[in-house]
Amino acid sequence: MPALKENTVNSNPWRLSVAPMMDWSDKHCRYFHRLLSRHALLYTEMVTTGALIHGDVARHLDFNAEEHPLALQLGGSESADLARCAVLGQQWGYEEINLNCGCPSERVQRGAFGACLMAEPDLVADGVKAMLDVVDIPVTVKHRIGIDKNESYAFVRDFVGTVNRAGCEVFIVHARNAWLKGLSPKENREVPPLRYELVHQLKRDFPNITIAVNGGLTTTSQVHEQLQQVDGVMIGREAYHQPFWLASWDHEFFGAAENDLTRESIEQQMVLYMQREALLHGTPWSSIARHMLGLRHGLAGSRRWRQVWSDHKLKGLPASEVMALAHALPATEDSLADVA
Ligand SMILES: Cc1cc2nc3c(=O)[nH]c(=O)nc-3n(C[C@H](O)[C@H](O)[C@H](O)COP(=O)(O)O)c2cc1C
Repeated sequence: MPALKENTVNSNPWRLSVAPMMDWSDKHCRYFHRLLSRHALLYTEMVTTGALIHGDVARHLDFNAEEHPLALQLGGSESADLARCAVLGQQWGYEEINLNCGCPSERVQRGAFGACLMAEPDLVADGVKAMLDVVDIPVTVKHRIGIDKNESYAFVRDFVGTVNRAGCEVFIVHARNAWLKGLSPKENREVPPLRYELVHQLKRDFPNITIAVNGGLTTTSQVHEQLQQVDGVMIGREAYHQPFWLASWDHEFFGAAENDLTRESIEQQMVLYMQREALLHGTPWSSIARHMLGLRHGLAGSRRWRQVWSDHKLKGLPASEVMALAHALPATEDSLADVA
C-alpha cells in the first residue's frame, strides 16, 4: 500500500494507533482513549500464549464493545500455541492479532519470545503462517530495527522479507534496536538511538507492505512528517501521558469533522463508565482513574486535580463525588498548589 496522502478520509486502520503497553493499555485505558478518538486503532497489552492457554481467558481477553477497532497483541513463539490463541482472539472479536517481536525484558527472553525472536525470522514466519492458516483477520508483527549492537539495515530488511513471505503484510517498527543485555525495558525505550530512516527504507524496499513507525513521536507535526514516508504511526507514552492530544487525531489524521470534545465532557463520561464498571464488576474507580491522570496535563490546577483522582483515602466515595471534589478547589489555591 503506498503512503497515503494526508487529509483524505481513509480506511487504513494502521494510519494512527496507540501502542500496546503492559499495565497501562488495559480495557479501562482503551475505553478512555476511545472516547478521545473514534478512529485510532487500539492495542491490548501483550498477552502471552501461556497466560491464555493455562490461565483465565476472560480476564485476559474481555473488553468493552466501545473499544473497536481493537488489536490483540500476543507474546509467544510456538506455532501451535500462537495458532490456538489467535483463534481465541478472533472468537472474542478482535480485529487483528499482533505478534510481539520487540519486547526486550529478561522474563520475555527466558520465554524465548519478544525481541529475541528477531534473531529467528524462520520461527516467526512459522508462527505467523500458523496463525494466518486459522484466522481471517490480519496477523501483524511489531518489532525493532535490530537487536544488540547489530546496526545493519540488512538484518531488519531480511527479517521483514522472511516474515512477509509467510503472509504477514503489516509491520509496526519501533525505530530503535533492543539491547538484550544490560538495559532494563524502560532504558530500552530511551537509550538505543532512534533511526527512523531505516523504517523509511523498509517502506521503499517493500512498497506493497504496510509499514507503521513507532518510537519517540510526540507531536502532530512529527506524525504528519512520518506519514509522508510510511503508512502509519504508532504512539505509546505520549498518548498515555498527554491523552487529550488524541482528541485532535480524528480531524488531523483521519479526515473527520472537528469535534467539540472538552476535558470536562470526557471526565464526565469516564465517571459514567466508572459507575457502570462498579455496578457490573465491582471495579473500584481508582483502577480506572489512574489512566486519565494526564487529562489536564499542563493546565493550571492539574496537579491538585490529579491528587484528588489518585487519593486512595477517597476510595469509599462514589466517582461523581470525587469528580466534584477534584473541581471544587478555588483557583487561587490551585495555582499555589501547582507552584509548591
Ligand atoms: C509501560 C510500557 C509498557 C509497554 N508494554 C509493551 C507491550 O506489552 N508490548 C509491546 O510491544 N510494547 C510495549 N511497550 C513499548 C511500546 O509499545 C512502544 O513501542 C514504546 O513505548 C515506544 O513508543 P513511544 O516512544 O511512542 O512510547 C511498552 C511501553 C511502555 C511505556
